[in-house]
Amino acid sequence: MGFREELEYLRQQTPLTARVAEAVRGRDLRGVRVAFSVHLDLKTVPVIEAVLAGGAQVLVVSCNPATVRDEVCSYLAEQGAQVRARRGMRPEEWEAGFAWALRQGPHYLCEMGADLSTRAARDRELAGPVRAAMEATGTGVQRLQQAVLPFPVLDWNALPLKEGLHNRHLVGLVTWITFLDVARVTLYGKRVAVLGYGPVGQGVAEYARLLGALPVVVELRPDRQLLARHAGCEVQELERALPRADVVVTATGRDGVLREEHFHLLRDGAFLLNVGHSNQELDTEALRRHPTRCLRPHLEEVRLPGRRVYLLAGGAMFNLAAGGGDPYDAFDLTAALLLAGLQHLLDQGHRYPPGLHPMPAEVEHRVAYLARQLHAS
Ligand SMILES: NC(=O)c1ccc[n+]([C@@H]2O[C@H](COP(=O)([O-])OP(=O)(O)OC[C@H]3O[C@@H](n4cnc5c(N)ncnc54)[C@H](O)[C@@H]3O)[C@@H](O)[C@H]2O)c1
Repeated sequence: MGFREELEYLRQQTPLTARVAEAVRGRDLRGVRVAFSVHLDLKTVPVIEAVLAGGAQVLVVSCNPATVRDEVCSYLAEQGAQVRARRGMRPEEWEAGFAWALRQGPHYLCEMGADLSTRAARDRELAGPVRAAMEATGTGVQRLQQAVLPFPVLDWNALPLKEGLHNRHLVGLVTWITFLDVARVTLYGKRVAVLGYGPVGQGVAEYARLLGALPVVVELRPDRQLLARHAGCEVQELERALPRADVVVTATGRDGVLREEHFHLLRDGAFLLNVGHSNQELDTEALRRHPTRCLRPHLEEVRLPGRRVYLLAGGAMFNLAAGGGDPYDAFDLTAALLLAGLQHLLDQGHRYPPGLHPMPAEVEHRVAYLARQLHAS
């Protein structure tokens, strides 16, 4: 199956996205510049295409070099987008992409990780043309909370359907499907330490249990510790959880959660993987100072003193970097919500005062209503 056939199959499995895309496609976006900093895998194609169809000038960079699919970049360029991304690009090249996109004077930013917004916030000249932005990830929102924003940013991640369905169910399910494939071991009876019990960690723990694992949660917030207990998980300090964990999953969205000083606590044969937005949750630079060799695709053995551990997908977002990514039909809702959010951004974004604002609930009500109609038919 070639790229075009796969894209056609994706379209067949995403009818809700197609319905919402029609509304965006029908708009006159000539003279409008929209910059995307998103995961450049197949599933974001219909979202970007809808904006292109309205005649906007579209600038595309990657929010994570480990999730770029080169065919997606070529395809979007053929459709008229200006793209600066390739899989595995070096950090300098990645950084240069953000500077390039901002120099084109985008009016709207659609982001996963807030790389453009936070850079624009530090340079008033670059921020000048920006009317409004939209942020789709929890990590991006945390970064924006620490910035002084000269333009409005809509927090799309906070939509209950995004957090409740995408972050929780999709990531949890796909993480373990990918794990079974990459590691070639099951989860039966294994202790899985989940670091971070936000919606993503909750899904990861829940689906691990469904596959026979014993989830142990490490979480800083007392309210989420309570939620974990009520869901039947053990809650432990990191130092107690690591020595017994067969699998360690980071899902915090923070850098350096598992560092050199923790490595001696890891069990011999432990698997390490990350599903948070940052590729630095596991300090892979420190891990790779120890002898390392690749044993299977996306699986490296790291020889620590007295033990060996397995690093999966080099610490990048495991479900996206090592697997086929999210199932198309389930991502249908996510992409439809993204498009509905984009429509709101383009229509109303400039009316908000500078700063971070929740995406209004009406955006997801409309999509949920359409989804109900589709499923009923
Ligand atoms: N892999 C994917 O496809 C995917 C999809 C959606 C979101 N994400 C990313 O996953 C991450 C988590 O998302 P979320 O919605 O659950 O975020 P969240 O912020 O709601 O939850 C993160 C949790 O981690 C906890 N935490 C922070 N530092 C910690 C530490 N050192 N030890 C233990 N716990 C700690 C926080 O208290 C919080 O409860 C974000 O980076 C998000 O962008 C990934």
